[in-house]
Amino acid sequence: MTDAALAPDAAPASPFIPAGAYAEKVTEVQHYTDRLFRFRITRPQSLRFRSGEFVMIGLPNSPRPVMRAYSIASPAWDEELEFFSIKVPNGPLTEHLQKIKVGDTIIMKPKATGTLVNDALIQGKRLFCFSTGTGFAPFASLIRDPETYEKFEQVYVSHTCRQRDELKYSADTVHNTLNDPLVGEVAQGHLHYFASTTREETQHMGRITALIETGAFYEAMKIEPLNPETDRIMVCGSMAFMNDIRRIVDALGFKEGSNSEPGTYVVERAFVG
Ligand code: A2P
Repeated sequence: MTDAALAPDAAPASPFIPAGAYAEKVTEVQHYTDRLFRFRITRPQSLRFRSGEFVMIGLPNSPRPVMRAYSIASPAWDEELEFFSIKVPNGPLTEHLQKIKVGDTIIMKPKATGTLVNDALIQGKRLFCFSTGTGFAPFASLIRDPETYEKFEQVYVSHTCRQRDELKYSADTVHNTLNDPLVGEVAQGHLHYFASTTREETQHMGRITALIETGAFYEAMKIEPLNPETDRIMVCGSMAFMNDIRRIVDALGFKEGSNSEPGTYVVERAFVG
């Protein structure tokens, strides 16, 4: 199937909109810090995705637009699409993307994919989602999807950032999820949030990797340590973070999974440029 066949409601061809790409409108923009922001766009009617997947997005500002992988931060049932983005100084896309306003156009390739999906994990009791920076985005999607609570009894989502203000997106998303008319009922008592910072004083300080290794994470959450018999793990963040957490969970006996071969943990690199 061609891209065009997958995107029947894509905008008509234009020099700056690649063939088969969707052209969607920005509906909301919220800046958290000089490094992080969130935005929402209209959802192409024909786009199908599983919560936790990513798409390629860009701006129609050149005949060969720069497209980057972005996790969809909204759940599969949402009428709009939400994204959580970093602002990289001189970043080929984010330098321009950070200036978007309501009504601007975002282009998007029609295929969603990714490994941070419930399907890539074998059945378990507890789901742990570990993230740094914009790596929280796929979990913003998964924790708002009722299917996550059908599959797991308890869901623990952790977000580590440098500073307090960078945690606002995850804190707000968890709060709103617990109070959402649709998902709140299934999430309450099952969704647990842990936040830490590394460069500014907050309630929990330190990298999540260190807090797992010292046991401070378990103590703070009042839970039993990670156990491959009962637990499943999803990881999203920088390459260094992913490598460090891989080392920890491999040593505990977790096995990496994929869509074709589900396992006890899955990882994906957060969008970086
Ligand atoms: P730190 O401040 O100690 O580098 P960034 O904004 O650079 O993507 O980082 C987001 C968060 O991820 C920061 O709190 C950072 O901590 C943390 N981090 C960076 N590298 C690692 C790693 N290898 N393992 C765990 N956490 C990390």
